[in-house]
Amino acid sequence: MTNPPGLVNALALRHKALVTGWISPSTEQLTALTSTHGTPLYVYDLSVLRQRVRRLREAMPATVLFAVKANPHEGLLRGLRGHVAGLDVASGGELERALRCGWSGAELSFAGPGKTRAELEQALAHDVSLSVESVRELNEVAALAKARGGVARVRLRLNPATTARAYRVPMMGVPSPFGIDEEQLGEAMAQVEAHVGVVDLDGLHVHPGGQCTSVGGFVAAAAASLDLCARLEREHGVRARRLNLGGGLGVLGTGEALDVEAAGRKLKAMIDTYREAMGHVPELLLEPGRWLAAPAGLYVARVVSTKQSRGTSFVVLDGGLNHHLAAAGHLFGANAPRLPLLNLSRPDARAITCTVVGPLCTPLDVLGDGVTLPQPEVGDLLGIPASGAYGPSFSPVNFLGHALPAEVVIGA
Ligand SMILES: Cc1ncc(COP(=O)(O)O)c(C=O)c1O
Repeated sequence: MTNPPGLVNALALRHKALVTGWISPSTEQLTALTSTHGTPLYVYDLSVLRQRVRRLREAMPATVLFAVKANPHEGLLRGLRGHVAGLDVASGGELERALRCGWSGAELSFAGPGKTRAELEQALAHDVSLSVESVRELNEVAALAKARGGVARVRLRLNPATTARAYRVPMMGVPSPFGIDEEQLGEAMAQVEAHVGVVDLDGLHVHPGGQCTSVGGFVAAAAASLDLCARLEREHGVRARRLNLGGGLGVLGTGEALDVEAAGRKLKAMIDTYREAMGHVPELLLEPGRWLAAPAGLYVARVVSTKQSRGTSFVVLDGGLNHHLAAAGHLFGANAPRLPLLNLSRPDARAITCTVVGPLCTPLDVLGDGVTLPQPEVGDLLGIPASGAYGPSFSPVNFLGHALPAEVVIGA
């Protein structure tokens, strides 16, 4: 595989779309990686991921877990040990993977609306904390724990009555398969009491939704969740030891992101007020995926063809939505923003307006529609930043039988 000339040294300096502190491999690294692994290629920088964990831990009065669904790469899951306190898993497969990567069951939190009996058994066998999503599931967990002669560690995942409009993907305050409606808290607590000695309720879990970049929106969701802890104590005499505030901390391809320092200051003030009123506070947990991982990843694809069609310049890459659904704007419904595109090989070429597409036989496979780029030529490498979360694992990788993208970790 030949490498195009002129890969840049300091990508972050040359490309405004690469934000300071995000992955920015050197020329030498990119040349070596594309020679060894070919393209398309995902590059993840573990040191960037760890740096973001550090920043979040310093900013927030909360214990930080990582949501495996955002990026289940085993090199990252292993590399996060000792940096985050645990992992959020959403299936038996993720649970198995976490164990394989050295995590203990007690460090895992398992949420998801469709846990099968086998998955619940698996979680109980490894002492995983279960976020139950319905009263029915709570009763099933209790029955399984009783049959095993053990105690289930359980959090009630709640769906508060307030909506989370600041989340681009709101997941509370609406009819939802996720979590128990706040209005059913009494019914759920009656079952918790009925299962005393079999179910150990350690607290509550609220995942407000995805992609919130507003400090006010984040804080409002946290306030609604803390209110539910107060209600649990007032109405049911049960003190939540932990409150899992979920994920959803936003980061866009442009670099716009939740200001975690500002959000953390407001959260601290809020829990101080709670402590004054209640005499104690639950341990807060956060389990973001995207905010931590997206800036740590770069997707790199090669230009395989260029053509003109009725006045439009098309640039065709060797990878597209089959590897990176989000880059084609299909993550958040119609007209979702796409991610920025960079010409890594020729950053100083004359800019043209073009439409960048993947290799699939569908008009949906568009990575950039009428974008301005230094003129890409066949053989050039294009890069897509903010690609460390919801990449291959969130993409239809089997469509048309193209090879899977390579995924490599640097900065370990
Ligand atoms: C329960 C739960 N926790 C955490 C996350 C991670 O969300 P994000 O990657 O937006 O932080 C999700 C995402 O869907 C989720 O459903």
